[in-house]
Amino acid sequence: MTSRACGVGHGVDLHKIGLLRCPPSNKNTTGSHAALKRPILGTASRVIFQWEDVVAARLIDGKALAQAVREGLAAASAAVLAKTGTKPGLATILVGDDPASHVYVKNKQKACELAGIHVDDHKLSAETTQAELLALIEKKNADPKIHGILVQLPLPKHIDSRVILEAVSPDKDADGFHPYNFGRLVEGHPVFEACTPKGVIKMIESTGVPIEGKRAVVVGRSNIVGKPLALMLLQRHATVTICHSKTKDLPAVCREADLLLVAIGKAKFVTADMVREGAVVIDVGTNKLPDGKLCGDVDFEPVSQKAGWISPVPGGVGPMTIAMLLDNTVESARRMAGMA
Ligand code: GUN
Repeated sequence: MTSRACGVGHGVDLHKIGLLRCPPSNKNTTGSHAALKRPILGTASRVIFQWEDVVAARLIDGKALAQAVREGLAAASAAVLAKTGTKPGLATILVGDDPASHVYVKNKQKACELAGIHVDDHKLSAETTQAELLALIEKKNADPKIHGILVQLPLPKHIDSRVILEAVSPDKDADGFHPYNFGRLVEGHPVFEACTPKGVIKMIESTGVPIEGKRAVVVGRSNIVGKPLALMLLQRHATVTICHSKTKDLPAVCREADLLLVAIGKAKFVTADMVREGAVVIDVGTNKLPDGKLCGDVDFEPVSQKAGWISPVPGGVGPMTIAMLLDNTVESARRMAGMA
């Protein structure tokens, strides 16, 4: 196995934030490590790397990256407030009792507060009609204090999500789900980009690995992750393949990837034999195991011994999705204030 430098991407210094620990004896004068070794996963909530005798992937720490983004956004929010007398505002709309959705929305709201974004919270009963939901969205579309509107998905079955997402003003579409914004991305002139794929792009960029010219394989073709992510990679001049449930010899396609982006929604779907040595692997999945623990779509430990870079679950894409929602909201407020 080859050895490679350890630990510092262009975005987040993983040593500084304590996520990557290498033995001082290995460190040479340029700060890289001559003989790099195998990560051992800690039992704590964070992945702790110790070093044995084989090469390890470097960790793409979405949590730390998201915090850095939030800090920048807090300054931008303060500038909007200073100019307009109003904070950037995000309306959050949650219909029904889905416990996971309640947790997601709460996390989004907490992050907003940390970034100086006003939250306009709407929790509606599962019996809310489509007409009532449309009326609320119309009100938020017309409210000058609101710069972004988030309708948490999934919606109850009696409500047509497509109708709802189209009702959100494209100018306040912080989720980037409106067909206008999707179309703008297709033609290569995005306005609001969907948060999860936008976060994945930032995570790739944080590694310093250039996207241009790379073979990118996106596993999963959903409208909210796989399709927009493929378009964002294409816009950055990657050669992009999208894999899905009907793809023939999917492992062979994955093995071609310099950048392997996985959003298939199946626990530990990507195994080490599907990964090219040194690839950047980003795991968008969040799956609950029978013991209640969360895991991604990538079999983290064995894949981390083969990949060049890898994102963990939790602490990878999830926090970046939230950070990008805030980013879109602040950007919207800046546009409306004539600051962008
Ligand atoms: N449900 C799962 N992911 C998302 C997301 O990114 N935005 C919204 N609105 N709902 C979701």
